[in-house]
Amino acid sequence: MLKAHQSFLLILLTIIATKSYAISSCIPNTPCQCYLTQYSLKLLNCSYALSDLLIPDLKIPQNITRIIATNALIRWPSQLCKYANIQILDLSGSYFNFQFIDLSCLTHLIHLNLSNTQLHEIPHFKNDVSNHLQILDLSNNHLKTIDGIYFQSLNNLISLFLQNNPIESIVHLEVLFNLANIESINLISSNLDLTLKQPLTLNQWSDIVRTWNNTSKSFSIRMKNIPLQTIIPAADKFQTISIDTMKIILKTLINSTFMTMYNTPKCDCSNLRTYQRMFSFVDHQRKYSSSLFQSTTCLMSDRITHARLFDRRTYIDLRCPLLGRMSFFPLLASSSTSSHYALVPFVVFCLFLLWIEKKF
Ligand SMILES: *[C@@H]1O[C@H](CO)[C@@H](O)[C@H](O)[C@H]1NC(C)=O
Ligand SMILES: *[C@@H]1O[C@H](CO)[C@@H](O)[C@H](O)[C@H]1NC(C)=O
Ligand SMILES: *[C@@H]1O[C@H](CO)[C@@H](O)[C@H](O)[C@H]1NC(C)=O
Ligand SMILES: *[C@@H]1O[C@H](CO)[C@@H](O)[C@H](O)[C@H]1NC(C)=O
Ligand SMILES: *[C@@H]1O[C@H](CO)[C@@H](O)[C@H](O)[C@H]1NC(C)=O
Ligand SMILES: *[C@@H]1O[C@H](CO)[C@@H](O)[C@H](O)[C@H]1NC(C)=O
Repeated sequence: MLKAHQSFLLILLTIIATKSYAISSCIPNTPCQCYLTQYSLKLLNCSYALSDLLIPDLKIPQNITRIIATNALIRWPSQLCKYANIQILDLSGSYFNFQFIDLSCLTHLIHLNLSNTQLHEIPHFKNDVSNHLQILDLSNNHLKTIDGIYFQSLNNLISLFLQNNPIESIVHLEVLFNLANIESINLISSNLDLTLKQPLTLNQWSDIVRTWNNTSKSFSIRMKNIPLQTIIPAADKFQTISIDTMKIILKTLINSTFMTMYNTPKCDCSNLRTYQRMFSFVDHQRKYSSSLFQSTTCLMSDRITHARLFDRRTYIDLRCPLLGRMSFFPLLASSSTSSHYALVPFVVFCLFLLWIEKKF
């Protein structure tokens, strides 16, 4: 590893090297400062003075693989396709509004940042061309509908940033889950009233589980106001799918966050038991400190308290009746793995009831 003074020297050298290529005020009649190297173009301080990206002094646009022009453009640059080899494109902070954005000419794109560009529509990625894209930032825009179909061709996508959009509905969420290499999705909407159109079917879940059934799969999704309970198969469907499937689903979602405020589902004794039983089967060392365990809640009967869905204390606090004594035993059996012993008095109580029943 580099020592502090070494890395400082490296930064200094980089600055000097960059400066030696600098052309000041490269675009006439604009405040833009250009930093041009053999492979990259960086525009600073443009202050929305550009309506396009054609740089007069630049003779070899094909050699440019990296363009960074933040807060620079007032519309989508029509000359962008001249830079056919761009791999990194950061146009964050520009004004693109309702314009149709077609990225099909940029076939080498790996990293695209269109954060904070007033976008109202998801850009178009053509099927066979955009599949090098790994990082896509569309956060801080005006997107209202997120349709997974728009991202279907992005097989290599690793990170998708969609946070701080006023998202009202999410469609085809299964397409996002099925992307082969996806590792993180941020869907935290700035809108409180959010709906998941077409909940995922059991068939869609079995497709997803095929993709997720890989011990090296890394994944996390962040969501607000769409409860986990409406995304994963419903508790009453658990008997029609294998325990193995549910284990894979919960294990893959272990680092995910599902925050809810106004639309937290009610805590229900029979569902709760099924969810907790499935969670107890998940084979993960730190599952009780995971974001899935910490963030997923249901609403207690006082309609105020958000209780943790996978926490056995919720079952006790809810004073669930002892119906289906036999099917309750798997939960008891797994309680030895629990890190807290809040269940102990409850077990004693169960045994007491059994004793009473035998006696009379
Ligand atoms: C950009 O403008 C600010 C002031 O508006 C100035 O302090 C800064 O040095 C400028 N940056 C460049 C690279 O010219
Ligand atoms: C641009 O790339 C070509 C090959 O693609 C190369 O021959 C040429 O030297 C490059 N020009 C500059 C200025 O780097
Ligand atoms: C995109 O650009 C914004 C603003 O310049 C920045 O805050 C954000 O970190 C960038 N996103 C990525 C994924 O690099
Ligand atoms: C499992 O995931 C790793 C890392 O993402 C990948 O390299 C590997 O090909 C996957 N294996 C299967 C069988 O899909
Ligand atoms: C969750 O995070 C832990 C620690 O950061 C990591 O070891 C694990 O592989 C992650 N699991 C998934 C499914 O992403
Ligand atoms: C996951 O993969 C293993 C073999 O790699 C297989 O035995 C198992 O049935 C798969 N589970 C599911 C739910 O597809």
